Amino acid sequence: MGYIGEMSKKNDPVNVILAGLKREEYRGYDSAGISFFNGKPCVETLKVAGKIAALERLIFEKKPETSHSAIIGHTRWATHGIPNEINAHPHTDCGHEIAVVHNGIIENYKQLRNMLGHDGHKFVSSTDTEVIPHLIERARRTGSRTFEESVMEALKELIGSFAVLVLCSDEPDKIIAARRGSPLLLGLGEKEFFVASDPMAICEYTDRAIYLNDGEMTMVTEDGYEILNYHDGSSGKSEVVKFDISLANGHAKKGEYEHFMLKEISEAPEVIFNACKGRIDFETFSVTFGELDEFEEKLKRVKKIMFAACGTSYYASLSGKYIFEKLPDISGAEAFYASEFRYHHPKIDADTLLISISQSGETADTLEALREAKKYDALTLGIVNVSGSAIAREVDIPVYCHAGPEIAVASTKAFISQVVVLAAVALRLSELKGGESEERKTVIRELGNLPEKVALVLAAKNIIRHVAEISQKYGNFLYLGRRYNWPTALEGALKLKEISYIHAEGYPSGEMKHGPLALVDNSFPTFAIAVKDEVVYDKVLSNLQELKARGGPIIAVATEGDSAILELADHVIFIPETLPELSPILAVIPCQLFAYFVAVLKKRDIDQPRNLAKSVTVE
Ligand code: F6R
Repeated sequence: MGYIGEMSKKNDPVNVILAGLKREEYRGYDSAGISFFNGKPCVETLKVAGKIAALERLIFEKKPETSHSAIIGHTRWATHGIPNEINAHPHTDCGHEIAVVHNGIIENYKQLRNMLGHDGHKFVSSTDTEVIPHLIERARRTGSRTFEESVMEALKELIGSFAVLVLCSDEPDKIIAARRGSPLLLGLGEKEFFVASDPMAICEYTDRAIYLNDGEMTMVTEDGYEILNYHDGSSGKSEVVKFDISLANGHAKKGEYEHFMLKEISEAPEVIFNACKGRIDFETFSVTFGELDEFEEKLKRVKKIMFAACGTSYYASLSGKYIFEKLPDISGAEAFYASEFRYHHPKIDADTLLISISQSGETADTLEALREAKKYDALTLGIVNVSGSAIAREVDIPVYCHAGPEIAVASTKAFISQVVVLAAVALRLSELKGGESEERKTVIRELGNLPEKVALVLAAKNIIRHVAEISQKYGNFLYLGRRYNWPTALEGALKLKEISYIHAEGYPSGEMKHGPLALVDNSFPTFAIAVKDEVVYDKVLSNLQELKARGGPIIAVATEGDSAILELADHVIFIPETLPELSPILAVIPCQLFAYFVAVLKKRDIDQPRNLAKSVTVE
């Protein structure tokens, strides 16, 4: 994030940057730093290993005085080099006259580093980023170029993705910002400007911004800004957009909850309600999707549906795939890990609908899969939670989850909203392609019942905490589910891994006997999703018998009234009966709460687990 504004105005530049970085901490939180000028010829840089709170403490101790209001700051998620103070951004040139913060990856940094090293440049960090200030320094020295010309020259040498902010002692009242691949926006205030990775960072100060395009750079002073294409110096397009200031509203407070994760799980009933609101009419059994209207004809022609997403969003797409397949007149759907999408190279054409699913809307792998599909003229639809995010802006049809900000790194309410929105999109597509359908009505009716049923699952919180207390001693877990709840098992295992750091594997229950069963003994428990489903329930019970015969402890999520499961499982968490295809929406909640309570008992950093970031903006 960068800030520049009229000195002596209401905003202290250091505080503006700290507040903005705190809002961007979801992108990474292993080290942080700021650079500014304090009347000396060199740039002053303060950096720490750890979170923004550590940087805040350092700033409180040092009480930095800024002589110019231009200031840049960064919170890091390590790609190259361990998360320590030296590798934290900003990085500077040999003379500490240039400071740079960077998101993305410079793929040719090794060659550049060797070349610059030959020319006598001294590197102190292990990062890819450090080549940027040195490249600018070289351009500035060799051709006595201006600050702007030097940055342009340096950017041309970079291969990879970047959003960069640069300060230079030649013009201490200016920030230069540029991007390729990684998001960057310029926030417009009154005699003050902000540059940041996303609107979250600046929504406290302004709701007007310009999203820079790939290949653009902006030169910002307190008097104004200019946008250029850094390849040829031509003028950039500068469309001012107003973003939704509700991003900043009270949703992002923990309130009565100890952690954001628990708060977000507890929001499930309203999340389902909001995902359906204005879309599903529970009286007429119809689905209206304003966003889809303009594309109705194209949607009717769609022959192939593909999902591309990562992590939890990918598991939501696996769940959604079953709903798509179940509804009439939809030929089926394929789900891909976004990071693998381009290697499969399925035959994409203008009759293909690519659905990108992403809470943040900024995930680099998902964005690249989307760009790949666009090359082949596919129609693109994004199921996204953060409005104005990169994916929302790049797809033909942005469809919002309306789940409210998700702050905890472990995704919980986003999964629920994504599955509900996928169901709503599937219903609309099925309606567009066919006529009346009893099956659709059944799904719609049950979606209307879900908020109440989810509230009942949440009410079983104490039972789940008790099961977590008994089970937290184990070092490994197998998560099993069949058919609709195979994705739930995968998601349950992911939740446990990421916040408790306990090893867990998700499997389709039927696969267990083909290998993983070898792991099972009385110290290797299984968390099974064994809800009522006329097609697979009996088979799941047989799979659990096989585990029991080997002494494996069993925790089961089952449907209320099921007595057979009580004979098999050591602990049972009951959920209300629902349609099998919608059961993941209920069954995932015990998985989320179980992981949460185990992690609390293990005293983990619940909302910001180690090594992770809320939004993964590198491929
Ligand atoms: C897991 C988790 C991640 C994300 C993944 C995709 O709890 O949060 O697996 O689901 O990084 O992120 P989005 O949905 O923002 O694209």
